Amino acid sequence: MAVIGIMDSGCGGLSVLRELRKALPREHYIYYADNANCPYGDKSPAFIRQRLLSIVDGFLDRGAEAVVLACNTATSAAIATLRSKYSIPFVGMEPAVKPAALGTSTGVIGVLATAGTLKGSKYLTTKGRFSDGVRIEERVGRGFVELVERGQLTGPEAEETVRRSLLPLLEEGADRIVLGCTHYPFLLDTLKKVAEEEGYTGIEFIDPAPAVARRLADVLRQAGISSEDENPGTELLSSGPRENLLKISESI
Ligand code: DGL
Repeated sequence: MAVIGIMDSGCGGLSVLRELRKALPREHYIYYADNANCPYGDKSPAFIRQRLLSIVDGFLDRGAEAVVLACNTATSAAIATLRSKYSIPFVGMEPAVKPAALGTSTGVIGVLATAGTLKGSKYLTTKGRFSDGVRIEERVGRGFVELVERGQLTGPEAEETVRRSLLPLLEEGADRIVLGCTHYPFLLDTLKKVAEEEGYTGIEFIDPAPAVARRLADVLRQAGISSEDENPGTELLSSGPRENLLKISESI
């Protein structure tokens, strides 16, 4: 029986779980939302690593054979430590700079992510690899995570918050916008609406979650972890309130 642990600071990782279930419907998923400590974006890497060690121990107690860090900020802060401490495979998030750089017509791509992700060496390395001939503009999605955690995905306040971070990227000429935080895909309708209202066409928003699902499938195959689960499904665990988590999980 293949049990996969998947975590995020809150509801955001459910945008990844949605893709994992599509690609690998026979696994048993244990989703952990560390929403008592959300947002991770402005927390220190040391704090996030401590949280991850405890979350992964919890997954192992429940029989997890692989863990997905469905959080760019946690991946950036903790994946190297986790890989050196535990023998199970870990799959993390990688901002989709490569498909954005390959797809841009304007030569400018925008990256929306948390401050922690944008400062992390993982992102800086990826950026360095694909920035040849392409200009990369970055913005923290200020307030985006809080909107999603409140379940406020559309409406005037969501639009105003999204506009503040998105518009500067569009004004710089970005035609591909990388969603570098797993909460942001839940704001996709609002992001598209704001871009359209501001008169920008041909803008593509890129979510790395489908690529993460393919990566997990490869990792499980390589590790010989079976996906013939006798008990497929999802368990939802959290360190904080569950109401919005349950609501979003029912919608995916
Ligand atoms: N969803 C997370 C990410 O992908 C964390 C957001 C946060 O807690 O600040 O970065």
